[in-house]
Amino acid sequence: MKLSVLVAIAFSICSGSASSLGENTSFIKFDTSRLESSSFLEQFDYNSLEESGWKVSQAKKGDESYVGQWSLESSSVYPGFHDDMGLVMKTPAAHHAISYRLAEPFNNTGRDLVLQYEIKPEKGMNCGGTYIKLLDYPVADESQFNNETPYQIMFGPDKCGASNKVHFIVKRENPNTHVSEEKHMTFPPLSRTGKLTTLYTLILKNTQDYEIRINGKVAKAGNLVSDLGALSPPLNPSKDIIDVTDFQPSDWDDNEFIPDPEVTSPPEGYREKYASTDIDDPNAVKPDDWDESEPEYIPNPAATIPEEWDVEEDGEWEAPLIRNPVCVSQGCGPWIRPRIPNPDYLGPWIRPMIPNPNYMGEWQPRSIPNVHYFEDSRPSDLKLIGGLGFELWSMDNNVFFDNIYLGHSIEEAEIIGNETFVPKSALENASLEKNRPRAKNEPVPPPRSFEDLYNDDSVSTWTQFVAFIKACVLKTILEAVDFYAEFMSNPVPTLMHHPFKFVGYCIAFLFTFTIVFGTLSTVMFIINGPPTFDEVPQTKDETNGDIRSDEKEEKEIIVNRIGNTGSSRFKESTRRRT
Ligand SMILES: *[C@@H]1O[C@H](CO)[C@@H](O)[C@H](O)[C@H]1NC(C)=O
Ligand SMILES: *[C@@H]1O[C@H](CO)[C@@H](O)[C@H](O)[C@H]1NC(C)=O
Ligand SMILES: *[C@@H]1O[C@H](CO)[C@@H](O)[C@H](O)[C@H]1NC(C)=O
Ligand SMILES: *[C@@H]1O[C@H](CO)[C@@H](O)[C@H](O)[C@H]1NC(C)=O
Repeated sequence: MKLSVLVAIAFSICSGSASSLGENTSFIKFDTSRLESSSFLEQFDYNSLEESGWKVSQAKKGDESYVGQWSLESSSVYPGFHDDMGLVMKTPAAHHAISYRLAEPFNNTGRDLVLQYEIKPEKGMNCGGTYIKLLDYPVADESQFNNETPYQIMFGPDKCGASNKVHFIVKRENPNTHVSEEKHMTFPPLSRTGKLTTLYTLILKNTQDYEIRINGKVAKAGNLVSDLGALSPPLNPSKDIIDVTDFQPSDWDDNEFIPDPEVTSPPEGYREKYASTDIDDPNAVKPDDWDESEPEYIPNPAATIPEEWDVEEDGEWEAPLIRNPVCVSQGCGPWIRPRIPNPDYLGPWIRPMIPNPNYMGEWQPRSIPNVHYFEDSRPSDLKLIGGLGFELWSMDNNVFFDNIYLGHSIEEAEIIGNETFVPKSALENASLEKNRPRAKNEPVPPPRSFEDLYNDDSVSTWTQFVAFIKACVLKTILEAVDFYAEFMSNPVPTLMHHPFKFVGYCIAFLFTFTIVFGTLSTVMFIINGPPTFDEVPQTKDETNGDIRSDEKEEKEIIVNRIGNTGSSRFKESTRRRT
């Protein structure tokens, strides 16, 4: 009776903990018969890549080949369903290309296009593309699939360092020139960067409304035709273009102003009045004692002709000039009016300009109608799609792709997302929660202090008392250790500052020492037994030393015996252990 209750409880606990992780983590295949016949859903539920129909490209991209390996695996990092296979990009820093040929061409004319798939970069995504392409029909040779293979739509994440976007490119062919042009979404949304599965959905409706959903939530929406800036280059070329054969005629006068032909020279006196930066100061006055008759410098009367002066070679000798002693306190020589900045300064004269009567205006090449103009009002009417492909370069490997849906129904994509992605994501979330990397140093609460214990009424007085004694002893020991350290580093000052403390510690140390060794010797005494003095009285007088040596021998024997038994016991125990 009791046992069955226990079993029942144990069972309920176990099943409870299992159901908290999701009821059943086995992979359940989505039943594709629930979808329209034109819908395509790839769940990668195969035993091998060969069986799947996906073909790895053998082509070359420029000088490089697509060496990246592909395989079918189930994820082991934050796993979702058990044995849920996905297509995996296996090789780091490599070009990968793989494609799939649809059994029937996919015709989107007049219909909505819905493309949806899951991406799980197990190691995270630092630099690489994870976008998918819808390939033109017919897909001739999957083994030659490469970056040149024509496609209609490219959709999905492309991230490298700080650059991160969810591409949406639609290729449109100009019916006049038959040249296809990639029209990129101008402001693409950011891709998700975690290691868990992310669901990307592209919806391009018959109304030309589009949506990009990430994990079922709209990340970007608009209309390809009415939002003129939605795509770059724009969906439609301009109606008129510049005629590149049109050149500016040589007699085209595009000078708006010309120099006035009637004014060829500056007005009278302009240069003197306006063009000079400084002028004679008109207000300066010659000082009264200024003697213009006396030169400012005179030959030095004290100078004599040097002896070595050769008139023939050196010329006529002249005494060096000195300042005229008469002029030391006054001005001498011709008086010059000082200069000051010209207050009327205007700068050099410039010929005035007048409007050009022959001005013909700014020349512009003429516009001509764009012969390639066409109006693409239905970009959702794609060419027939013959297959799907991944043509990628990635630094990061172990990127999983799964549950690729291509169809015309938003509802189908939602149902698939609700039944595959959502439960998978929940399992991955739980797995992440369980294996979340722990912090290296978890915070530890501080030990309870004596105050905490003292204020805690639930603690008994005895416990408080023990804690108190413990705290006292600990404090004393710590103080002693501190004092010892202080003493060892600085003995004399420590002694002088705390002589009593030192003596106290010495006494305490001696006291402890005595007690410890007293106890030890007592223990030794108990172990060894009392020394045997049986024969001592008889031989004491004659051969004192000999007897003592006998005694020693006896003791040694005892000690040896103890030692032997001890070591043999030790040996035995080690033998047993091994
Ligand atoms: C989980 O579900 C699958 C498919 O429905 C079933 O085969 C399997 O036995 C179930 N596993 C458990 C543990 O219930
Ligand atoms: C694609 O579908 C449209 C509309 O149903 C149809 O008119 C067109 O013929 C189809 N194209 C091909 C190649 O089947
Ligand atoms: C998918 O799930 C969401 C959230 O539960 C719900 O709002 C939506 O209607 C579901 N879609 C379909 C097609 O069942
Ligand atoms: C998984 O976790 C993410 C992030 O916390 C959350 O946004 C998402 O709703 C979760 N998914 C499920 C299915 O619980």
